[in-house]
Amino acid sequence: MVSKFIRLSVYFLLPFNQMCCCVSGVCRYPLGMSGGQIQDEDISASSQWSESTAARYGRLDFEEGDGAWCPEITVEPDSLKEFLQIDLRSLHFITLVGTQGRHAGGIGNEFAQMYKIKYSRDGSRWISWRNRQGKQVIEGNRNAYDIVLKDLEPPIIARFVRFMPVTDHSMNVCMRVELYGCEWLDGLVSYNAPAGEQMTLPAHPVYLNDSVYDGAVIYRCVMTEGLGQLTDGVCGLDDFTHSHVYNVWPGYDYVGWNNESFPSGYVEIMFEFDRTRNFTTMKVHCNNMFSRHVKAFRQVVCYFRSESDWEATPLSFSPVVDEKNPSARFVTVNLANHMASAIKCQFYFADAWMLFSEITFQSDDPTHKVDDSNTRILIGCLVAIIFILVAIIVIILWRQVWQKMLEKQLVDIPSYSVTYCVPASTSTAASKSTTTTVVQDGVPHYAEADIVNLQGVTGSNTYAIPAVTMDLLSGKDVAVEEFPRKLLTFKEKLGEGQFGEVHLCEAEGMQEFMNKEFLFDIPEELPVLVAVKMLRSDANKNARNDFLKEIKIMSRLKDPNIIRLLAVCIYSDPLCMITEYMENGDLNQFLSRHEPEGQLALLSNAPTVSFNNLCYMATQIASGMKYLSSLNFVHRDLATRNCLVGKKYTIKIADFGMSRNLYSGDYYRIQGRAVLPIRWMSWESILLGKFTTASDVWAFGVTLWEILNFCKEQPYSQLTDEQVIENTGEFFRDQKRQIYLPQPVLCPDSLYKIMLSCWRRNTKERPSFQEIHKALLEIQP
Ligand SMILES: *[C@@H]1O[C@H](CO)[C@@H](O)[C@H](O)[C@H]1NC(C)=O
Ligand SMILES: *[C@@H]1O[C@H](CO)[C@@H](O)[C@H](O)[C@H]1NC(C)=O
Ligand SMILES: *[C@@H]1O[C@H](CO)[C@@H](O)[C@H](O)[C@H]1NC(C)=O
Repeated sequence: MVSKFIRLSVYFLLPFNQMCCCVSGVCRYPLGMSGGQIQDEDISASSQWSESTAARYGRLDFEEGDGAWCPEITVEPDSLKEFLQIDLRSLHFITLVGTQGRHAGGIGNEFAQMYKIKYSRDGSRWISWRNRQGKQVIEGNRNAYDIVLKDLEPPIIARFVRFMPVTDHSMNVCMRVELYGCEWLDGLVSYNAPAGEQMTLPAHPVYLNDSVYDGAVIYRCVMTEGLGQLTDGVCGLDDFTHSHVYNVWPGYDYVGWNNESFPSGYVEIMFEFDRTRNFTTMKVHCNNMFSRHVKAFRQVVCYFRSESDWEATPLSFSPVVDEKNPSARFVTVNLANHMASAIKCQFYFADAWMLFSEITFQSDDPTHKVDDSNTRILIGCLVAIIFILVAIIVIILWRQVWQKMLEKQLVDIPSYSVTYCVPASTSTAASKSTTTTVVQDGVPHYAEADIVNLQGVTGSNTYAIPAVTMDLLSGKDVAVEEFPRKLLTFKEKLGEGQFGEVHLCEAEGMQEFMNKEFLFDIPEELPVLVAVKMLRSDANKNARNDFLKEIKIMSRLKDPNIIRLLAVCIYSDPLCMITEYMENGDLNQFLSRHEPEGQLALLSNAPTVSFNNLCYMATQIASGMKYLSSLNFVHRDLATRNCLVGKKYTIKIADFGMSRNLYSGDYYRIQGRAVLPIRWMSWESILLGKFTTASDVWAFGVTLWEILNFCKEQPYSQLTDEQVIENTGEFFRDQKRQIYLPQPVLCPDSLYKIMLSCWRRNTKERPSFQEIHKALLEIQP
């Protein structure tokens, strides 16, 4: 006991962080690994060597069990599989960590020479800690008994922390750890702000970016979902070109913006909090070096959001503009006891530059004053959990019933021969082509809470429709019939993806399976061309469920300009979906083979398409999209490659494009996120992950542009993928620097005007498909 007290006082004698003006100087309390405040159940690990070296024995200075946490297997160099995890139950500001090996009274001699730290505020997004120079690895212990303490620079704001032992040779590692800091009373979970900029001084550039931001910096223009420089507890110096921190670039401590980049005259920062709080003040640490055209803000206007609504009347505050004292200072803004879980503030420039180094929030925190409210919250939580569990059970039962209904049919006909799409001559080739499916790995998708996402068979994620529509669509039984596989003859592979393939097949006797409404289109007897989407037999359950859902949705879509689902093969594996296919293939290839009418075409003897027919095709696409949008169905990948051409220039919208190698150049893989057709995507889809009918309208504008160019050129062909994304940033900033697709030679002003209206920044100002359809009908002579 005595030794523990001595050690405690040692912590406080450690040299305090010189540069802190805010919290980190006093915020160095042990958070309860050694003291026991952290409960056993909140300490977990990737694995354990034995019960006596479980995670709960990883407490600094404890000798219980076998004396430390030890993972199950030897830690190998470069394998970061093992970790010891601590759940602090609420957000904490963590400034220091301590580690120790396994001594066990002299029996043990295992310790971590190095380790990394990962942390998370919500338990799902994990961030690797780096020091101010960008280094992740922390020097750990040299023997099994000494405690080694390391300052975290920058400090961490997190609820969950993981220690991950790192070695340079394979060795046994055991750890005991402690975290030091204090509770994060600001409650700030993230701030979103425009990225900081670069200032050019005669001597050297000053980098005013947020150097330690731990969220995403989207294409160097918007920072989202993270914390960084503004909450790292370090206040900048009066002269922003200098820093307390050793060996960093000029401007390190500040995030700064230039008024030329903000025509509105202000910088907007949005702050998100862990819960609704009663706010008293906000303190903004600003530079005021007016000799360099830097001043604190002239005015701030703050909006408050509690629950889901923004309060109508903002709070406004104008500090005195100080042109005498060049010191950096805290400007205090009285937030007048507004209740909010998010605050959005617009800081108005007082000069060419505005530089902040720290923003803190003070709120009255009732849960910390009245103890008994904790109990009430606990009871509330328990009740809520019980409700959620009941709801989950109901959903699971409901799903099982639904699945049984579909699978029942599989059981009924157990031995259906699996010969599908067999080429007339070589059946081996077909079986090969169905087993060698590689390409795209799991494509995570942008998701919104109220959207049902389906993993398409090709690994694309084409469908996104509101849950409500989903219910409507799946209300009735599947209206399509089972088709005998043996009547399908393989012709060509159209595409493939992680979960399956799309084949072009001929179907015999399909006429019987088609509703009467199709019959006029198809000559009797002749085999019909169909596209067959197939799910790999070894696809996982989720992919199967999504495939069945896709069938349900597709079976409800009935429009002359949308590809129809004709039949399915779900009695046996592999599950298949048979859809219409059109003899002229996709619109992109079709137009590439054709030329505009005119002298040139006459000379080269190339087949032509008249302007009227171009318009006719565009009008049909608009009509199909009008139908989809009336169901609130978002296509997400409208482009000429996804439109099929039939006889007499008829068009039907489909969705196979993503899976085709031919078009892989049209898609861009965002690191670890998704494969995206960025050249067709609206700015808000790329930057914010928002897919709506308005973003389909944007894609329609690009599709129209392709059509008028006879698909001879990729959109923005002169730009690289990265430049396309940068251009998206310009659409977002809207300072007239964005590049629009140029007016095609063939394109009359009236049509180009429609395209430009599809690319308006404000989604509400874009036309609806109804309006576009009407406008196109008027242009069409
Ligand atoms: C900020 O700018 C510096 C200097 O250009 C650069 O090294 C650093 O990577 C940038 N940091 C971020 C987070 O963009
Ligand atoms: C916020 O705190 C102030 C001061 O403690 C108190 O007077 C006020 O009633 C609180 N507001 C709400 C909505 O709880
Ligand atoms: C930016 O600030 C400078 C100095 O106050 C001023 O001269 C200039 O007009 C401002 N520019 C814009 C776009 O507001």
